[in-house]
Amino acid sequence: MLSSSLFSASDFTSSKEVMQILRGAKKMIPHAKRMRYNQAIKFVGKLLLQFKESSSRTAGSFETAAGYLGLPYKVIQGTKETSLKKKEAPLDDLITRYGQGYRMYITRTTVEGEARYLAEMMQRIGKGISVLNGGDGENEHITQALLDLLTIWLRLGRLKNFTIGIVGDLKLGRTVHSLIQLLKLFTGINVVLVPFGGLNLPERYRHGLNIVAEGDEDFSLLEQCDVIYLTRIQEERFVEAIDYERVKRIYVFGKEELDACKPKVIVMHPQPINDEISVDIRFDPRVIMDEQAENGVAMRMFLIYRAATQYRPLVIDRPDEDLIISRDEQPAKKARHRDKLIRAIDRGTVLDHLPPEFIDHIIALFHKLGVDTQPTIIPARRVTDSKTVPGGIKDIAFMIDNFISDGAAAILTLFAPLLTVNVLPGDGTIHKIKYRPPSNIQGVFNCPNPVCITNVDRYARSWFVVDNGFAVCRYCERDFDMPSLLHN
Ligand code: NCD
Repeated sequence: MLSSSLFSASDFTSSKEVMQILRGAKKMIPHAKRMRYNQAIKFVGKLLLQFKESSSRTAGSFETAAGYLGLPYKVIQGTKETSLKKKEAPLDDLITRYGQGYRMYITRTTVEGEARYLAEMMQRIGKGISVLNGGDGENEHITQALLDLLTIWLRLGRLKNFTIGIVGDLKLGRTVHSLIQLLKLFTGINVVLVPFGGLNLPERYRHGLNIVAEGDEDFSLLEQCDVIYLTRIQEERFVEAIDYERVKRIYVFGKEELDACKPKVIVMHPQPINDEISVDIRFDPRVIMDEQAENGVAMRMFLIYRAATQYRPLVIDRPDEDLIISRDEQPAKKARHRDKLIRAIDRGTVLDHLPPEFIDHIIALFHKLGVDTQPTIIPARRVTDSKTVPGGIKDIAFMIDNFISDGAAAILTLFAPLLTVNVLPGDGTIHKIKYRPPSNIQGVFNCPNPVCITNVDRYARSWFVVDNGFAVCRYCERDFDMPSLLHN
């Protein structure tokens, strides 16, 4: 079940959950038109709208929505007037605001995953507060995606069986990332991708998306679309200015392109516009981005209303995992021939079936895992073993008088899936242990994304969820292959 906070499109698990919000927002439209909500809302506390990154529409519509609902609120634009400017951690800042009576926090920031992190931490320390994400870096803009879907639903009368063309900066545009994940929950939606200058949709968003056509700057692909969603190139998110210079050529969707499309096509844009749409069609009735922005008020009225009237805590505890999958203990005398090599040491741990060359990374990994690397670790490189490992070559690590915890061994299994941990307690026995790789890794590796909240807030710990061999950061939601975590 969704909590009263709202962080990411990835939290939605069904179209039903999305529709509940769209229906609620639709009912708010008449109230938004009348510029006030007709009932008093029972909500103890104030709303803080903090927009650390620039915003006109999102900040303005949240502020308008709070006003129409008759709730007390404060807007802070930028960080100039706050202690965040003095490098205060976002969590410390929010705890102070909680003490000042704020019970709902609406945030826009360049720091990815901030909203989820803050809501979780506040709940953990007994200061539960609803947090609404108004856009975090290039990660998510869930409230925008919801108002986009509301607009499509009201215009087409359905959220199925249509083709949507998504155009522009698909790589860095957070509105695209959120919208795409919501679209996946509905059936019969075809997606046409038209990126500018190779700013392609990242791999992690593609799974489950019905992409029917894709072509760089190819506006002709849009002729089959019922909805066109244009976006600007996200200049401020380019790490190297030169990369922006390379793509900043002007891609203009103009009268000619629009007239080649279906007669009933609707053209949307989250705004701000740069040059991707020509001036002569800005006010064409097929271009409905102002309607979209207006729907943003009703949508945000409902999202605030929902959080104010039904505070629902988050579910953050992870289930305990059974790390050990088998334990095979053999008495000394019955030792099998193949254990001869393992018995090269009398007491300690032998890590067997490591991938070849992996041994060179093991010390770095042990440092992260807190494994003692002082007692000697003797590497055996490229040992032939045609029976147990594909490719017939493996590394082995002999750890004399050294033992590792179940948690560390299980994490090791993420890098060495065939790993067998041989524990030799020194009494002549060998305990062979296989571990199931954990599905959550907390606090071991730093997130490689420098703008992830876990690299910004001094209290934050990293948290990766392992999915298909990739580590997905719970906060910034980016995915990394396991080796890239090692030397970060
Ligand atoms: C978008 C954003 O901030 O991500 N704007 C908005 O909120 N309507 C789009 C953009 O900045 O390009």
